[in-house]
Amino acid sequence: MAGILDGKVALITGAGSGIGRATSRIFAREGAQLVLVDVVADAALETLEAAKQAGAKAICLKADVSKSDEVEASVARTVAEFGRLDCAFNNAGIEGEPALTHKCSEANWDRVLAINLTGVWLCMKAEIAQMLKQGHGGAIVNTGVAGLTRAAALEYGRHNIRVNAVCPGPIRTPMLGRLMQFTKDAEQRMVRSEPLKRLGEPEEVGETVAWLCSDRASYVTGLPMPVDGGFFAQ
Ligand SMILES: NC(=O)c1ccc[n+]([C@@H]2O[C@H](COP(=O)([O-])OP(=O)(O)OC[C@H]3O[C@@H](n4cnc5c(N)ncnc54)[C@H](O)[C@@H]3O)[C@@H](O)[C@H]2O)c1
Repeated sequence: MAGILDGKVALITGAGSGIGRATSRIFAREGAQLVLVDVVADAALETLEAAKQAGAKAICLKADVSKSDEVEASVARTVAEFGRLDCAFNNAGIEGEPALTHKCSEANWDRVLAINLTGVWLCMKAEIAQMLKQGHGGAIVNTGVAGLTRAAALEYGRHNIRVNAVCPGPIRTPMLGRLMQFTKDAEQRMVRSEPLKRLGEPEEVGETVAWLCSDRASYVTGLPMPVDGGFFAQ
């Protein structure tokens, strides 16, 4: 049976762990050709092996999304390898060092913004430039940046470039594991505050991203979609 991403060329950032790794496996299952980007080369390589086992044509690249030259090189390599770019999941992000506002260092603040905000913008910039050159549209999914996502969706709708976001609730990944160390009984408290009474799994975000990138979501753009077990609805 044909996958919902059959024949599409997709770039995924932060592909070496958690949500990015799970999404890579789902994209492979759904027929995408994959460019797996992570700042940790070995982690991206492990995801690459899993994607290949799932039957995908794929490559992995070491790149830091906060560096424009590395982002641009990743898109250029995608085109050199697969001829075009159809979809992208700008997922790479960090949790930073948890700190109250008055105790947060400027270096911590700058690093989080450089990766989680500027990184998404740099990725979109390079991806959209390539999609415009190709001239037949594309689909981008960002993580958690609603304003940037809506603005880009409005700017590029006329070019059939759809831009959406996923806004995850607490998802069982290495990042959440690191964050939970800081608070006693963190998992039970999170579970209690969720309408679905459980944490999310990275695959549950990945399935949403695959759908948003696919032609099945062809009239969906500018949407920051919660994948949070109903938390936002409260
Ligand atoms: N897990 C959650 O509960 C949760 C909740 C809300 C939002 N998010 C967001 O989802 C995204 C994925 O989170 P996760 O839980 O899978 O985290 P994770 O730490 O398990 O994976 C993140 C991946 O991004 C990579 N990465 C970090 N900085 C990078 C950079 N500068 N360039 C390229 N790659 C980089 C890491 O090496 C890692 O492989 C992040 O943006 C995170 O902020 C996660």
